[in-house]
Amino acid sequence: LGKSFNYTYPEDFQIEKEEGNHLYNFTFPSDFHIGVSSAAYQIEGAWNEGGKGESIWDRYTHTYPDAIIDGTNGDVAADFYHKYKEDIKRIKDLGLDTFRFSIAWTRIMPTGTINSLNQEGIDFYNNVINELIKNGISPMVTIYHWDLPQHLQDLGGWTNELLVGYYRDYADVLFSNYGDRVKLWITMNEPTKAVEGYGGNVTGTGFAPNVSAPGVGPYLAGHILLKAHAAAYHLYNEKYRESQKGRVSITLETYWYKPLDSNSSSDQEAAEQSLQFNLGWFANPVYSEKGDYPEIMKKKIAEKSRQEGYRQSRLPEFTEEEVKYIRGTADFFGLNHYTTKTATFRQDKPGFSFSSDTGITLSAPSDWPVSETSEWELIAPKGLRNILKYIKDYYGKKWDIVITENGFIDGGELTDSRRIVYIATYMMEMWKAIYIDGVRVVEYMIWSLLDDFEWTSGYRSRSGLFYVDFNDPDKIRIPKNSTGLVKNITSTRRV
Ligand code: NOJ
Repeated sequence: LGKSFNYTYPEDFQIEKEEGNHLYNFTFPSDFHIGVSSAAYQIEGAWNEGGKGESIWDRYTHTYPDAIIDGTNGDVAADFYHKYKEDIKRIKDLGLDTFRFSIAWTRIMPTGTINSLNQEGIDFYNNVINELIKNGISPMVTIYHWDLPQHLQDLGGWTNELLVGYYRDYADVLFSNYGDRVKLWITMNEPTKAVEGYGGNVTGTGFAPNVSAPGVGPYLAGHILLKAHAAAYHLYNEKYRESQKGRVSITLETYWYKPLDSNSSSDQEAAEQSLQFNLGWFANPVYSEKGDYPEIMKKKIAEKSRQEGYRQSRLPEFTEEEVKYIRGTADFFGLNHYTTKTATFRQDKPGFSFSSDTGITLSAPSDWPVSETSEWELIAPKGLRNILKYIKDYYGKKWDIVITENGFIDGGELTDSRRIVYIATYMMEMWKAIYIDGVRVVEYMIWSLLDDFEWTSGYRSRSGLFYVDFNDPDKIRIPKNSTGLVKNITSTRRV
């Protein structure tokens, strides 16, 4: 694996090749799909070209360059806007089945509302989709990947209930223009992160729109975002499903959580509650039989709110009708998963944060292989098998699972040994989930094709199979060693 890879593998990292009499062959069925994932603001650039309007990430990075580690922004990024044809060729050469990309709402409707429809924006994505199809690659479209039109933010963004209707109109335009060719739709990417910027900078990550409503904003924004998701899903059912026959869902991210001390029942409870608060927040309303937010979340936030002097919970309530309206609004379970954290009951930060409402502190054990640039990026492949099993057991067997993102962030090395190990070991654990645990995983997508703008980490944190030279006016791409692994996997259908 090269001399730079010099770790002692901890227990979470060991890959057994057999279990009992079962010798693993890590071969995937021919209809199992493998793809790459991306998002508009992170790769497109051309921030003010083609009639595009301003998004909250344009506004935020231009107003507060210091919020981004290297003071950069997505104005030019990897210039996918002008280079999409060559990049699609790269996807084809890797033998991949699917390309997941997001649509910039501000290209389709510069102000976010239907009266500002922009044909040039519609044409751009038509060209991308046609190019993909021409090359035998299935397009998977994320409707919303965090780049809200600034104009809608001026009206309160996701804390304004009007957005349910505006988002539905936007989704309507996409379904009607692209649904003849796009059969895989993601309404929202990682809602927990999409609403983080409504909690102020207190979480330390400072995501756009950076509105300071600690403890209230993210829950309110999430509440409205869920209704918007459901509205788009119902719209597809009523107007498009019969003729277009696609699949529509939402993508949720979660760590796998381990008890800090595996023998402590309190730490076991902390790990379970972490799943409820992070995954369950959006997964229970959509995927659980009962619908609605997890009980523990309702209970804890209501108690905490009372202690703080509120008369009502900071977590809004759904009416019974709304619970029904949102429940079951998915055709598969979209999952983004990267790494594992340990959990214990202890509140480590003052103010509002994950730990203040849960009373849980998450950490990353120091003995795991870790990425240079970001501490959250640990190679812990067993967590993927565990979370897949958990989803099957907790939300039921009926959901096909699509892994919409999994990948490794490093400093951009071309000999990216750790990415190779990461992808190979995670895919092996996914294979075990499918064949040993009987989880229905139907697709696996790597984040990402290209190095890109990694939000507040700028261009320092790199996750591409291709290196992008952001200093070069032409943004040249250079294949990393991991492209060899991917080609090998797609050609043999085996890890
Ligand atoms: C989550 C997000 O969907 C994506 O935008 C981000 O770049 C990756 N994961 C890596 O952090």
